[in-house]
Amino acid sequence: MSSTTPAKPAVQPSAEMLRMLNAFLTVQALHVAAVLGVADLLAAGPKSLDDLAAGTKADRPSLHRLLRMLTGPGVFREEADGRFATTPLGATLRSDGSDSVRDWALFVGAPEMWAVWAGLRDSVMSGEASFPAVHGAPMWEYIATRPNLGEAFNGWMTRQSRQHNSALVAAYDFSPFRLVVDVGGGQGSTLAAVLGAHPLLRGVLLDLPQVVTRTTPLDEAGVAARCEVIGGDMLRVVPKGADAYLIKRVLMDWGDADSTTILRRCASAMADGGRVLVVEMLMPTGNDPSPAKTFDILMLLNQPGGRIRTEIEFRELFTASGLRLSRVVPTASPNSILEGVRA
Ligand SMILES: C[S@@+](CC[C@H](N)C(=O)[O-])C[C@H]1O[C@@H](n2cnc3c(N)ncnc32)[C@H](O)[C@@H]1O
Repeated sequence: MSSTTPAKPAVQPSAEMLRMLNAFLTVQALHVAAVLGVADLLAAGPKSLDDLAAGTKADRPSLHRLLRMLTGPGVFREEADGRFATTPLGATLRSDGSDSVRDWALFVGAPEMWAVWAGLRDSVMSGEASFPAVHGAPMWEYIATRPNLGEAFNGWMTRQSRQHNSALVAAYDFSPFRLVVDVGGGQGSTLAAVLGAHPLLRGVLLDLPQVVTRTTPLDEAGVAARCEVIGGDMLRVVPKGADAYLIKRVLMDWGDADSTTILRRCASAMADGGRVLVVEMLMPTGNDPSPAKTFDILMLLNQPGGRIRTEIEFRELFTASGLRLSRVVPTASPNSILEGVRA
């Protein structure tokens, strides 16, 4: 008799396809759980449905159905006594914690964004971003008028940055620099990490005026005294004379013409011997799954001309901007650092 273990039955292609198609329900269920703050309510331990309904002001039986559905993918757990508990997976929907993804759950499932996702067909047919067509304004302008959406987006940028920052600081030596400008640096979490690791370095944070009204990461890292904060438009002007211009996860939002404008501004503003450091995901070749491929569709939907680029496309962009791509440094995050020097 053979002792080989029986092969696992293959998942039916149609079952796998249905699983993918029904993911829309999971996304909305996670969004609603995040909006209601269920994971925060469960932070101290399991709670009865009565307590959860009171805490969320939700319809009790419907809340039960929502939580029960989310036991399937392992987000919550129903105990033998009927109380609900959170799992390590569900705990990532809490508003605190270094690996919290609650802000993204708030943003990605928001009705205003759902309307944008529904425009994918139009985007694929026309090549135009769905966001301005749906909301009548570019994403940055629109979210500035919707505090909830803006807070969720900027909050997620800050958190995601934190999750990637140690990888950035570990991969690249900022110690030769005296002044670094973070162009489109959000609320300063990347700059906070860089300045925190290099006590003699000074920084300038440049982002839109409405974004830099809150720069908590700089205060929390105790580096605010070494950092100037500028609310402005990077397409028009960037501060002069720095040794390094960090442009992290910004160019993915822009087409080649605007990206070239941003890079040119940095190239002509930087001190002699300065560096432009573009931090981005690179589009891989081949068929393996990659966050770059999914993000690229997000850019197609949200940002006119936005895209995830290949290394070759970046090399061409640098050349068109008066720069030479001198190095590509991988990091232990999805981002790589593309270092540019004056050509
Ligand atoms: C995808 S976020 C990246 C933020 C940050 N660099 C990070 O890695 O977390 C892009 C940033 O570009 C900023 N931005 C958009 N248009 C801008 C402009 N014209 N001038 C300056 N910043 C801008 C946005 O406000 C946002 O903070």
